[in-house]
Amino acid sequence: MMEIKKFDVAVLGGGPGGYPAAIRAAQRGKSVALIEAKELGGTCLNRGCIPSKALIAGAEVVDRIHEAKEFGIHVGEVNIDYAQLAFHKDRVIERMRKGLEGLMATNKITVFKGFGQFISPREIKIKGQDNTSITADQIIIATGSEPRNISAFPFDYERIHDSTSLLAMKTLPEKLIIVGGGVIGCEFASLYATLGVHVTILELLPRLISSEAIEVSQALTKAFIKRGIQVETGVKVQKIEQVEMGIQVQVEEGKHYVADCCLVAVGRSLNTKNIGLDKAGILVQENGMIAVNDKMQTNVDGIYAVGDIASKWWLAHVASHQGLIAADQICGKSSRMYYHAIPSVIFTHPEIATVGLSLEEATKRGYKAKLASFPFQALGKSQAALQAEGFAQIVVEEKSGQILGAQVVGYEASVMIAEMTLAIANELTVECVAETIHAHPTLPEAWLESALLGEGLPLHLPPKTQKKG
Ligand code: NAI
Repeated sequence: MMEIKKFDVAVLGGGPGGYPAAIRAAQRGKSVALIEAKELGGTCLNRGCIPSKALIAGAEVVDRIHEAKEFGIHVGEVNIDYAQLAFHKDRVIERMRKGLEGLMATNKITVFKGFGQFISPREIKIKGQDNTSITADQIIIATGSEPRNISAFPFDYERIHDSTSLLAMKTLPEKLIIVGGGVIGCEFASLYATLGVHVTILELLPRLISSEAIEVSQALTKAFIKRGIQVETGVKVQKIEQVEMGIQVQVEEGKHYVADCCLVAVGRSLNTKNIGLDKAGILVQENGMIAVNDKMQTNVDGIYAVGDIASKWWLAHVASHQGLIAADQICGKSSRMYYHAIPSVIFTHPEIATVGLSLEEATKRGYKAKLASFPFQALGKSQAALQAEGFAQIVVEEKSGQILGAQVVGYEASVMIAEMTLAIANELTVECVAETIHAHPTLPEAWLESALLGEGLPLHLPPKTQKKG
């Protein structure tokens, strides 16, 4: 009879939710098993954040070369060898994956390669490269999500792509249609347009990235149109067909669009099926998510869930934080998950970064709030770098001056958001930011200026730019 291996902790899924949990539990002295069906690093490292950012980093170079002439620097024609750029992306993934494998080994985590399924609340059967069963006193589920597959869209992964197959392409199309103007759709639109592809976005809702504040969505749409991206909103894609020249996309309104290929980015589905949740008695909610409390505990004692399957925040860094909390709980440390200061970055050109509440959300939640918005145009560093597009804005509670949220659109927004994340996580006020000396000339001075504006004491702007909620 096959011997069943026993561990203190088993983690199901080796993505940004699972592997940090495994490391934390191992470092706190537990024997840990990590079960992964594909590659360590999950979607983020292998099919998401990292590969897309490796390509986007190349696109940023293209942008800077185009901008060079404004500085009086003239370079010859830009030739993009996409195969080389794709090779760079693959090499980055490879390096990072090797690093992770090393981390698993140095932390003495036993990695099982295969698909894990609950047989009972404490037992997992693994099928794949490793075929075995294990038991664990505590289990963390971190199985993540994958691109949503819709039957009306016959994916062949050569012309009709999801984000995974598009990232794996070795050549660039001439014309690309993107179905869905959400986060993934917009990041790919920005990337491919910069690389010279003619891009059309077809979005069902009246605006792009509708989950973001309206000013942010408007700024992105304006920048996209200026870049030559065709943006069609309020259109429902009904059918996608293969035609001789490529693909044809039909929208409900009767119109159709033709291109070499298309990307369907209409959301993701959760990996909660076929993992035996019923055998463990784990409660799945109507929206498909596993019900958890703020300690990431499910309804079953000793079983935790983290990442996309456990909250509406489908972000790698949220998954990682939840993973650490679950591992800490298992090891007897009391920590809780809070969601009031979650930074979120969209790697478009211009970059978008947000944290906390938008003015609309703050008002909906009953806050009397105002917006203090500072344009990069008025900032010396932005002007010097010829990056004066966009703005940084703070959502301020009127009475207390507490910072409820912040949004930034423009150059290095992804870096800028860290200051506001720290401010909101620590419940700081605009006064705290205004009294903090910011180095000059730097981009974060935009926060200082917004804070001063929020206090009604603007320095480099007249006080009229404040909007009330
Ligand atoms: P999404 O939910 O952000 O956007 C999907 C869009 O498709 C929506 O705007 C929706 O209205 C539209 N849509 C749906 N059906 C349609 C139809 N038939 N015709 C036209 N439009 C249609 O989902 P997305 O972009 O696939 O991203 C999935 C998740 O991945 C997001 O929740 C996001 O948080 C996460 N993600 C985050 C990134 C980041 O933080 N930088 C990068 C990539 C993904």
